[in-house]
Amino acid sequence: MRPRRSDQPLTRFAPAKVNLSLQVLGKREDGFHELHTLMAPLSWGDRLRWTPVSAIPKATDRGEQEFSFRLHPPAACHDGFSEIGVEEDNLVTRAARLLADAAGVVAHGRIDLWKHTRPQAGLGGGSSDAAAALLLLNKAWGLGFTKPRLATLAARLGSDVPFFLAGSPAVCTGRGERVRAIGGLPALHLVVSQPHEGVPTADAFAELARQNGNGDPIEAEERTRRLLNALRAGRLRAFAERTVNSLQGAAAALVRSIGDTLDRLAWAGCVGQWMTGSGSACVGLAVNAAHARAIEGIMKAENNNNTFVTTTR
Ligand code: C5P
Repeated sequence: MRPRRSDQPLTRFAPAKVNLSLQVLGKREDGFHELHTLMAPLSWGDRLRWTPVSAIPKATDRGEQEFSFRLHPPAACHDGFSEIGVEEDNLVTRAARLLADAAGVVAHGRIDLWKHTRPQAGLGGGSSDAAAALLLLNKAWGLGFTKPRLATLAARLGSDVPFFLAGSPAVCTGRGERVRAIGGLPALHLVVSQPHEGVPTADAFAELARQNGNGDPIEAEERTRRLLNALRAGRLRAFAERTVNSLQGAAAALVRSIGDTLDRLAWAGCVGQWMTGSGSACVGLAVNAAHARAIEGIMKAENNNNTFVTTTR
C-alpha cells in the first residue's frame, strides 16, 4: 500500500560525517577520482523540516513557487557562513526539485534548514542535507520510493549523497557513490576542529593531481580491512597509526592552518588525528567522552573556537 501524504510538518536530522580513512586511487576519464574511503555518520549535524502549506498559519509562502527555503544559521556564526551556506544549501532545493520531478508531484510548502555544518569542511554537510531532503520529502509527500531508487537520484546530486541514505558507517568506492554498509563498529569519541578557512573539494583534488597520487584497489581494500579489524578490537592507537587521507597533503598545501590544527590536536593529547574528506576540518580521536571534552577545552583555550566533541553512530 502506498504511504499517505502528510499534512503535518515533518523533521529529520541530517548527520555530518567523517572519513575514517580516504584513499584516492587515481583520476578517471570522466574527471572524477576513484576512491576507497571508510566513512561514518556523526551524532552531530543539521536539522531539516518540511511544512506543507496547509500547516503554515499565515500561508505567505502560497504562490507560484512550489516550495520556499529558509536557512537558519547557527547563532554564533563567523563571517561569511550564511553567505556561503545559502549557496551550498541549494543542494536541498535541488534535491526537492529532483524528487518532485521524478515522482511527478506538485507540493506546496516550506523547507527550513537549521545549519551547523560549515561549508568546505569535509564534513559532508551539504550532501547530508540533500540526502535528508530526499528521505524527508519521500515520506512527507507519501511517495514510497525505495532506497535504491532514491540512491539513483542521490548520486546525481553529489558523490557523497548516497552514503547519507544508508545512515551507517560504510566503505564507499567508485567516485564515492558505491556504498557498502559496515556493521559492528564501536562508537568513536571524536574532537572535530575546523580552521577558519575552508577547502573547495575540486581544488583539493586538483592539487592532488599535481602531486600525482595513485593507488592500487587491492591494497586499498586490504588497508581498510586492517583498519576495521583494529577498530572492532578497540585498538585505537593501531588504527590511528595506520589510517590515511590521500587528500591531506594537498589540502594542507592550500590551507596552511590545517597543519597547525593537526599539530594542536596532537599536542592536546589525541590518540591520533587526521583531516576529514577534502578538509579543512580535522578529527582527533579520544579514548572516551571525558577525554574528548578535555581535548576540546584545550583547543578552545588555544583559540581554536570552531571545535566540538561528537561520536560516530
Ligand atoms: O560529486 P561532488 O559534487 O561532491 O564533487 C565535487 C568536485 O570534487 C567534483 O567536481 C570533482 O572536481 C571533485 N571530485 C573528484 N572525485 C571524486 C569526488 C569529487 O574529483 N570522487
